[in-house]
Amino acid sequence: MLADDLKTLLATEYAFVIKAQNFHWNVEGPDFYQLHKLFEDIYSEVYGSIDDFAENIRKVKSYTPASLARFSTLTEIDDEAGVLMPESMISELLLDAEKMQEIMKMLFMESEKLHHHGLSDFLAGRQDAFAKHAWFLRATSKV
Ligand SMILES: [Fe+2]
Repeated sequence: MLADDLKTLLATEYAFVIKAQNFHWNVEGPDFYQLHKLFEDIYSEVYGSIDDFAENIRKVKSYTPASLARFSTLTEIDDEAGVLMPESMISELLLDAEKMQEIMKMLFMESEKLHHHGLSDFLAGRQDAFAKHAWFLRATSKV
């Protein structure tokens, strides 16, 4: 069901933001500043879409989950409780950004089936935003 899938995706976006913040706060090494800034750019962009995301759930006549407990049961991205090496931070966030693109793609198709064109447009934009995050992470990890 579209509303349920949107709730899952909202929780997953939140989990992505928290993970990018973990990496922003805890990264260390010779590339510290560059990675600290990259992770900040990423979490800021994703966080900037959270409110629109939640409001899109209201537009399809459902209530928006808004608690850490709900988010942690709904998210499709695994939490990262540890402090990783910089290369692992990049590769893990890259996999998550690619996963986000796939989820956005599926939801776009679901939305289009129901002719929610405004929502589809929003989801297409989010897919593209994660494609950009994935590109930046991929380019950063190239040796
Ligand atoms: Fe900061």
